[in-house]
Amino acid sequence: MATILLTGGAGYIGSHTCVALAQAGHRPVILDDFSNAAEDVPDRLAHLLGSTPEVWRGSVLDAELLARLFATHDIAVVMHFAALKAVGVSMQRPLDYARTNLGGLMTLLEAMRTASVHRLVYSSSAMVYGLPETIPIPEDAPTGFANPYGYTKLAGEQLLEQLAASDPRWAFGILRYFNPVGAHASGLIGEDPADIPNNLMPYIARVATGELPHLQVFGDDYPTPDGTGIRDYIHVEDLAEGHVLSLQSLMRTGQGHLLNLGTGQGRSVLEVLAAYGRACGRTLPHVIAPRRPGDVPILCADPTRAAELLGFRARRSLDDMCASSWRWITRRQGD
Ligand code: WQD
Repeated sequence: MATILLTGGAGYIGSHTCVALAQAGHRPVILDDFSNAAEDVPDRLAHLLGSTPEVWRGSVLDAELLARLFATHDIAVVMHFAALKAVGVSMQRPLDYARTNLGGLMTLLEAMRTASVHRLVYSSSAMVYGLPETIPIPEDAPTGFANPYGYTKLAGEQLLEQLAASDPRWAFGILRYFNPVGAHASGLIGEDPADIPNNLMPYIARVATGELPHLQVFGDDYPTPDGTGIRDYIHVEDLAEGHVLSLQSLMRTGQGHLLNLGTGQGRSVLEVLAAYGRACGRTLPHVIAPRRPGDVPILCADPTRAAELLGFRARRSLDDMCASSWRWITRRQGD
């Protein structure tokens, strides 16, 4: 059993990865400032893990706290989820995004270096592909960014690559997420945005509960079969399992890797809306709205390399994603 530090481990992806890690026999330790996580997540995790995971409340920008944490634990690998991730907000707050996403990564890496911990799984994003020329997108596609969020993700990857080139002891699992959606099958943990969601599925969930009147479909004049944007939605439990495989590969081989985590199957906005309607048992209303600035028509992963290197394949369907989301939403409402 290895002790694994999850920065941002009380958040959406982090909490699901915490469960998958414990199920794989590892001991998760969570560091989170709860700026984007509900206070009761550790209690909910306790129901799934059988005991409450160790939680350190604080920021990855706090070098002194990190030093204490590494000095008192034998951390085998760090999984770094703690970052700001709202594309639209990053356009207004580029400096805050650089400070948190890049400054936080640098502070964490300095603490790891001092503690001689050299293995890290890094949350990256399909946003580093900018406007892709090839669909589905392979990992060696040209990279770029269309917003400050995407810049910080790409700059983080480049910092890690330089670090690994400077000292072979460093090994990084760089994972480029496509569109994570859904919730744990138990309905105990899920995506829990504080205010009106920017992302598609949590917004549709609010339409399904009646909190919002209808979905605004941002453009139906894209070069796609039904005219609406296409994305590669991946179940958050598949994503969490991919993280565990990445960690185990790092521990087994000491070799880093850079991988897409996606299904390889693109789905349109209207397809997702119809699938959610099947999950909640009614047709959900929508209106066609103008395109959203910064959106690209299609983002879809080529998942081949993750399958070859890790044996990773996303196995949950769009209907599974929607059903798990609806189960979480209705259970959360009952709290
Ligand atoms: C998906 C599709 C929209 C909302 C996001 C984050 C990014 C990354 C991946 C972390 C698009 C359409 C959406 C709505 C709509 N996360 N849409 N009406 O933009 O692909 O990327 O997830 O790395 O940070 O921005 O996801 O869910 O916002 O949009 O029509 O109310 O749904 O136009 O085609 P996106 P999204």
